[in-house]
Amino acid sequence: MLSDFVPRARQKNIDFGLETTGQPLVIDGNPVLLGELIKNLIDNAIKYTPEGGCVTVRTIATERAIVEVEDTGIGVPEADRERVFERFYRVLGSSESGSGLGLPIVREIADLHRAQVSLIPNPSGKGTIAQVVFPRSRTPDSAPLPSLDAPRPITFPPA
Ligand SMILES: Nc1ncnc2c1ncn2[C@@H]1O[C@H](COP(=O)(O)OP(=O)(O)OP(=O)(O)O)[C@@H](O)[C@H]1O
Ligand SMILES: [Mg+2]
Repeated sequence: MLSDFVPRARQKNIDFGLETTGQPLVIDGNPVLLGELIKNLIDNAIKYTPEGGCVTVRTIATERAIVEVEDTGIGVPEADRERVFERFYRVLGSSESGSGLGLPIVREIADLHRAQVSLIPNPSGKGTIAQVVFPRSRTPDSAPLPSLDAPRPITFPPA
């Protein structure tokens, strides 16, 4: 799944990497939907990062399960950081094409998994971190998610 993005990253000379900390991140959920979520975030990171930049997919497994897609791209102005989750909303001034539907889909999938998704300015000063925080890493006694059909434990992100 992540390797699907390597050719596009290479074409733009983007350093595309995966960083993991702690244990594997296991999330109860729908693998197809979670795959769509991460694909949309990586698609944006590569699309809105100019040549020579850096895109990092990161998982952090603590008492919460966190997935981040960090880029060194054009960034999202503060005034737009919440609006970009509205359907068809796109920040003016980018020459990239799109429908403005990726992030609304990401938010909907996050909601179904009781996760919070937000865009944070990259602390390096350039670019964005799209952060998805799941309420907790899976434990054997975790209650199932009522809003999803037969949620299953999946290791994140998919290889
Ligand atoms: N990583 C990012 N860096 C900079 N701007 C971003 C980033 N991710 C999203 N944006 C901004 O948010 C807008 C909405 O993103 P969204 O993914 O919903 O739509 P899109 O990428 O324009 O089209 P698509 O429907 O193909 O995903 C984008 O048009 C862009 O302006
Ligand atoms: Mg998009």
